[in-house]
Amino acid sequence: MAGTGVFADVLEGDVYKYYADGEWKKSSSGKSVAIINPMTRKTQYKVQACTQEEVNKVMESAKTAQKSWAKTPLWKRAELLHKAAAILKEHKAPIAECLVKEIAKPAKDAVTEVVRSGDLVSYTAEEGVRILGEGKFLVSDSFPGNQRTKYCLTSKIPLGVILAIPPFNYPVNLAVSKIAPALIAGNSLVLKPPTQGAVSALHMVHCFHLAGFPKGLISCVTGKGSEIGDFLTMHPGVNCISFTGGDTGIAISKKAGMIPLQMELGGKDACIVLEDADLDLVAANIIKGGFSYSGQRCTAVKVVLVMESVADLLVEKVKAKVAKLTVGAPEDDCDITPVVSESSANFIEGLVKDAKEKGATFCQEYKRDGNLIWPLLLDNVRPDMRIAWEEPFGPVLPVIRINSAEEGIHHCNASNFGLQGCVFTKDVNKAILISDAMETGTVQINSAPARGPDHFPFQGLKDSGIGSQGVTNSINMMTKIKTTVINLPTPSYTMG
Ligand code: G3P
Repeated sequence: MAGTGVFADVLEGDVYKYYADGEWKKSSSGKSVAIINPMTRKTQYKVQACTQEEVNKVMESAKTAQKSWAKTPLWKRAELLHKAAAILKEHKAPIAECLVKEIAKPAKDAVTEVVRSGDLVSYTAEEGVRILGEGKFLVSDSFPGNQRTKYCLTSKIPLGVILAIPPFNYPVNLAVSKIAPALIAGNSLVLKPPTQGAVSALHMVHCFHLAGFPKGLISCVTGKGSEIGDFLTMHPGVNCISFTGGDTGIAISKKAGMIPLQMELGGKDACIVLEDADLDLVAANIIKGGFSYSGQRCTAVKVVLVMESVADLLVEKVKAKVAKLTVGAPEDDCDITPVVSESSANFIEGLVKDAKEKGATFCQEYKRDGNLIWPLLLDNVRPDMRIAWEEPFGPVLPVIRINSAEEGIHHCNASNFGLQGCVFTKDVNKAILISDAMETGTVQINSAPARGPDHFPFQGLKDSGIGSQGVTNSINMMTKIKTTVINLPTPSYTMG
């Protein structure tokens, strides 16, 4: 159970502690931040409201710890990560319980998130050993005007202190996708979890603590964004920020100093459906892509662009599947669970009302109870409706009828976002042409958008992000190239 057994140190009274210098601590602020259960809308957990002074201390320890960590052999770093991965998986049940209670993730998906995270940590350890154990060797005579008098050796060195800010929808998985690459590459890591999801993240961090990482190498500070948000992202001790979330990322990118940024800020993933598509496959993917975790995924299908000639049939098939979705408590493993907060539910409702006023066809009756919104398919959506462009981050999916693939591509590319997209057709040549024309970081052919498997590159264009993620790209992003050049007094050529 959360906060008990091996996790007992994380909790004192009814407030979870923060993690600094290898210890679980109470904030000197004496204040806490409440985490509201999206289902009951009552306080589920409380976490420490850390102060700026505490952030300063964490940054100092992170800097010191990183210096010796960078001198720790790569195989030893990997060994500790493997250990953390095993502990994480061993304790999947209490961590999943937190995910259910604080972000209303359906029980089965919550367990999957923890297991996937353990696998990600192990894979990162293995990949790190391979790619960080290799460098390059260059010789000078390949560049015009040079003799072979210079030997250049390149290696990848750590950046220093990485600040990781994951989102509420994957507080464990999108935290470890930043922590593991940072650590294997020889960096230290400061984690600022989202408030909804903070307790899951604290439990995950405890698994790293139990694995025996050095003091100060990993820290986790909780608290109000207004108090420590900007203070963290603008802190001079931070050497790199890896952020996943909403448009706060745009503000961070404007304020952060001259440091590398890795950002994923959401999407409006389009699903283009051509006349020759397998409509049963499309319908199944629209349900999975549009409604899993109640649409609260950056990579959710967020607009269906279907050819008019097959639209009626597709809408009927999707409607039939929507009718079968279960709606209710995450503990009961329902398909549709409450969205994360009341303000989120209000925002979604605003989009629905706008679509209603402008004449969208409601395939189901709009229904809401607290944060719980019943799945809704909106047909005949037009570009003047907000839902055509904005991310609901909820179980509401617009369908726009198109008359050509070009029209679909045009709608997709007119979005500020460019995370992923998908195209359904049996004609692979058409699929490739459409994929090439779509201004998104990834295009899935005949499947819904998704980030995983976690070693695949994952990136967004335009407002969807900066840089690329996925295990290998994240390790590389959290390193810098260092070169050493050996200058010879006379040219030297290796003989065959
Ligand atoms: O919303 C976060 C984004 O990274 C989605 O991940 O695994 O649901 O495709 P996934």
